[in-house]
Order: sequence, then C-alpha cells, then structure tokens
Amino acid sequence: MATSSDSALEELGRFAVRYVKPGQTIGLGTGKAASAFIRALGESGIKVRGVPTSNASAQLGRESGIEIVTLADVKKLDADFDGADEVDPRLNLLKGFGGALVREKIVARASKRFIVLVGAEKLYPHLGARKRLPIEVVPFGREVVTREVAKLGLKASARMNEDGSEFVTDNGNPILDCAVREIRSPARLERELLAIPGVIGTGLFIGMASLVLVASTDGKPPRILKPKS
Ligand code: A5P
Repeated sequence: MATSSDSALEELGRFAVRYVKPGQTIGLGTGKAASAFIRALGESGIKVRGVPTSNASAQLGRESGIEIVTLADVKKLDADFDGADEVDPRLNLLKGFGGALVREKIVARASKRFIVLVGAEKLYPHLGARKRLPIEVVPFGREVVTREVAKLGLKASARMNEDGSEFVTDNGNPILDCAVREIRSPARLERELLAIPGVIGTGLFIGMASLVLVASTDGKPPRILKPKS
C-alpha cells in the first residue's frame, strides 16, 4: 500500500491536537506523523510543555514555539503523541525504523495516555510484516548480542547510514535490525530479547497504546482505534 501523503499526515496532526489541553505536559514523538503533530501543536497556540523523544523532535518543538522540558522536570506526562511503523489488531506496535525507540518507549511509559498517529498502510494483521525489528544495544556487546539473537532464529545486522558509517542513536548506541517474519508472540519475543545482556530496548510496544488515530485518505475524519478490553 502507498504511504500516506504529507497532507493526510498534516491533517492527522491537526486532528490530534484536540486531545491536548492548555497547561499540559506532552510527549513529542519522532518521525513524519509525530512531526506533523508537533507543527500543528505549535500552530494551535495552545501553551504546553513538551518532552521530546529525540534531538530532532526537540529542535522541531523549539522551532514550533513549544517549551521543551526534560523528564527530570516532570513526574507524569498528560499524553504522548508518536507514530509507529506497524500496528496490529490489538494495537501492539512495532517502532524504531527512525532509531528513536528507546526514548520513545521511556516517554510513552511516563505518559498517562499514549496516542499513536499512523497512515492506514501501517495497519497489519500481525507485527513483523515489514520484516525487521530494531533493537538498540550497548556498543560493547554488539557482537555477543548478534550471536545471542541468532540463537532465537533472528539474523541481526547493524544499521548503517547512507554514507557507509554506522548509524548511532541519540543515546550514542548502535541499532541492530533483526530480520523477522510474522511475530506470533510479541510479548514472548520482547522478554527473550530483553533477557540478552547488552540489549537496551526493542521496537516492540506491547499493550501501550491508548488510542491509534489513522489518517484518512478520502477527506473523511481520521479513524479512532481503541484497544479492546
Ligand atoms: C522512530 O524511531 C519511529 O519509531 C517512528 O515513530 C516511526 O518510525 C514512525 O515514523 P513515521 O511517522 O515517519 O513513519
């Protein structure tokens, strides 16, 4: 399926601003959909404080007129708005194609609500549909993690930049992209990966989304998906 147009994501970003109230502290996600939200939030003029999930989001937040604070400044965020690379029918997510997965998961966990913005092309019957699962690792343990991940049946490759250098996250760590197929038990895979010394975090966000807002392609309002209880 084609990716959602920039205008559909901009519309989605504007729609999501209705979940924000003045004076709140808001998580600022990373990626195209989250950036559309950050711009819309800035344009709305609603005064909030923002906790960014990446250096890029911090910069965009500042440029958009949002007061940027850190997790040391706040106990609990009112809501976090972020994108996703895959969403399954239970609203489990696979994230991290942009490399911000660890900060994104920390900020999502620190938030009362985690609101996810995606195009319809990100909805899949199961996670793993795009065949890779990012994990962030301690550089010292990169090779050991690669071997341990192989024991789980996954081939892990260090993510590279276009210029051939190794990709490094805002935390200064490499990302291993694990080749996956259908992930039948995301929670089990998450446990197995986190049990490997040197794995800092995975792109699996299990049971974390409060709402998923799906961009419309035909001028209708976005769809609102809620987890089934
Ligand atoms: C960043 O690490 C990712 O988790 C992004 O949130 C995710 O890749 C979605 O990004 P887009 O909205 O750019 O597709």
